[in-house]
Amino acid sequence: MMSVIEKAAGSITDISSNGKVSAPKIATGPRHFDLDDNALAHSGFYHPAAKASRLALELRAVKRRLLRRIGFLRASGERQAYRMPGRQRNLILVTSSRAGEGKTFSALNLALSFAMEDQIETLLVDADILRPKVRNRLGLPSGPGLTDRLLDPSIKTDALQFRANQAPLSVLPEGAQIDRVSDLFATDECKRLLTGLSTEAADRLIIIDAPPVLATTEAVILAKYVDEIVFVVEANSTPEPAVASAVDELLDINPNVSMMLNRCMIGSGGSHYGSYEYYGLSDDAERQSSKSAPAEGASHEAK
Ligand SMILES: Nc1ncnc2c1ncn2[C@@H]1O[C@H](COP(=O)(O)OP(=O)(O)OP(=O)(O)O)[C@@H](O)[C@H]1O
Ligand SMILES: [Mg+2]
Repeated sequence: MMSVIEKAAGSITDISSNGKVSAPKIATGPRHFDLDDNALAHSGFYHPAAKASRLALELRAVKRRLLRRIGFLRASGERQAYRMPGRQRNLILVTSSRAGEGKTFSALNLALSFAMEDQIETLLVDADILRPKVRNRLGLPSGPGLTDRLLDPSIKTDALQFRANQAPLSVLPEGAQIDRVSDLFATDECKRLLTGLSTEAADRLIIIDAPPVLATTEAVILAKYVDEIVFVVEANSTPEPAVASAVDELLDINPNVSMMLNRCMIGSGGSHYGSYEYYGLSDDAERQSSKSAPAEGASHEAK
């Protein structure tokens, strides 16, 4: 039977120039893909040509605030200045209360913008196993991913990833559709995998596109393992009780929740339609990060 790695290789046999079938190619690292700026622009996503677009400007403000909360950015704007010693605060979960509020749109925009604009190494993980959208948005082929890796820890995560040619962006897709995803996410293996991804590259951001909180327990389970939760609220659409109960569930697990208001009206007369506004629910993380900032003149090497 074909192993999951062989499937990941995307090429099982190879007809060499003399017509003979050569040995199967096994992927040992990520497969590469091209980011299609035109397709991204067409679907309303971040793309580098529109540096001064409203979306790019709004994302910049969101990113700055988010990087400060996780201890990646100083108030002065200096990057990678202070990290919690001994622990990377680089695992970011994107969720919302209900379906269709813009989680994938936000997770992908953040990942694209961090990687393309700031050249920050970024890994986007699709953890919405039942409604995965990341592959489709980036035009990636189907195949094994996160669930396969969790079921078989001998698989190298690298071999399941896609790596963009134009920016330091990698994607770990969702993988096989399975029942009882929450049970899989609740395993020690899931915690180990995410911790491993967090620690193996100190200056990499990991953005996890999760399912909605009120639909399944998966987002709340993943909330245990991450450093920051970006909670997407669809302006003028998500009912307040839904936000309150979803955020309560998350805060019981992890206090580092910040809100990202999607599709918001901005401007004094509410006349402009913007994508994002962002604010921290609890500013504990930011305060903590500020406290752990090294004194001026201290080494700015990431720890
Ligand atoms: N600010 C925005 N501007 C333009 N289009 C948006 C915006 N936010 C979301 N969309 C679009 O709305 C649709 C739903 O968004 P998205 O897929 O990101 O939601 P989701 O919360 O991930 O949904 P699901 O729970 O099904 O995963 C998508 O077609 C997306 O491109
Ligand atoms: Mg989604």
